[in-house]
Amino acid sequence: MKKGHGIGFGKAILFNEHFVVYGIPSIVSAIGNYTVAKIEPYDHTGFTLLDKRLATPKYKEDKLSQQKESFELMFKKMGLDLSKKGISITLEGNLYAASGIGASAASCVAVARALADYFEMNLSDDEINEIAYEGEKGYHGTPSGVDNTASTYGGLIWFQKGEKNVIDRMTLSIPVEIVIGNTGKVTDTKIAVDGVRQRKEKNPKKYQEVFDRAENIAYLAKRAIHDGSLQDVGKLMNENHKLLQQIEVSSRELDFLVSVARDSGAIGAKLTGGGLGGNMLALTPGKELQNKVATAIEKEGFQTVKTVIGASRESVE
Ligand code: MEV
Repeated sequence: MKKGHGIGFGKAILFNEHFVVYGIPSIVSAIGNYTVAKIEPYDHTGFTLLDKRLATPKYKEDKLSQQKESFELMFKKMGLDLSKKGISITLEGNLYAASGIGASAASCVAVARALADYFEMNLSDDEINEIAYEGEKGYHGTPSGVDNTASTYGGLIWFQKGEKNVIDRMTLSIPVEIVIGNTGKVTDTKIAVDGVRQRKEKNPKKYQEVFDRAENIAYLAKRAIHDGSLQDVGKLMNENHKLLQQIEVSSRELDFLVSVARDSGAIGAKLTGGGLGGNMLALTPGKELQNKVATAIEKEGFQTVKTVIGASRESVE
């Protein structure tokens, strides 16, 4: 990486978005696509932003004020004073900016790394992750930390929020192909998370049952991944999608893309990320199946990303 540059990975949550906010374990993978941030001197005080990321229409406009707040939170956490000498931030890379794919976390991690490098701060990954978590608060309010963790460390991760978060690396014997399908709808994670909280408070008994099953699914998925049993992983993803429907974070478009993926042979498919729109994820081992599922989704007029889960960070850098 050049001086003042930093990278942050996109992510796909395989199991338990939303449930993770309440301390239920989740499984997340960084994906091969990433955001690069570049810091350069700026003639004025404060900061200026050049966002060159490819994006879902309206994504950048909708997120601009949250993005600015996110930068300010990170500057504060890093103790940076830009009132005398400003900086220019450029965002680019091959991760398109869309909901559900970790675009906000990837940009927080990339910016944190780039700032640390520019100001010669020599920070560890754990410190970068903490700064990016602060930055994520600008977008989510109360993030669980799962997204910035995947964006920072890369690879496949078991993540559980707690007094001290559990972050365990998981392994797949070889990286597995996935397809990410974009509904094209920009969503606000904060609204999605608030909605779950309100409904959970109104229907504690129903939600407790769904949350208990989500916890169960995390452990079953952990075992299936450990055993390399992808068919079981796929079935559990399908079941996880049902639970996400029950807590009302899916949408008509997401359910449609999930059924297109399954009908064209995906061994599992579910929404990924905050839901209500944004992206879905299909497990499609092998290039042939991956192409088939991606083509089926594209034929319906939706954009896809073909990537893998379980690749190590080194293999994509
Ligand atoms: C968003 O990518 C994941 C959520 O679980 C929110 C969070 O964990 O902070 C919906």
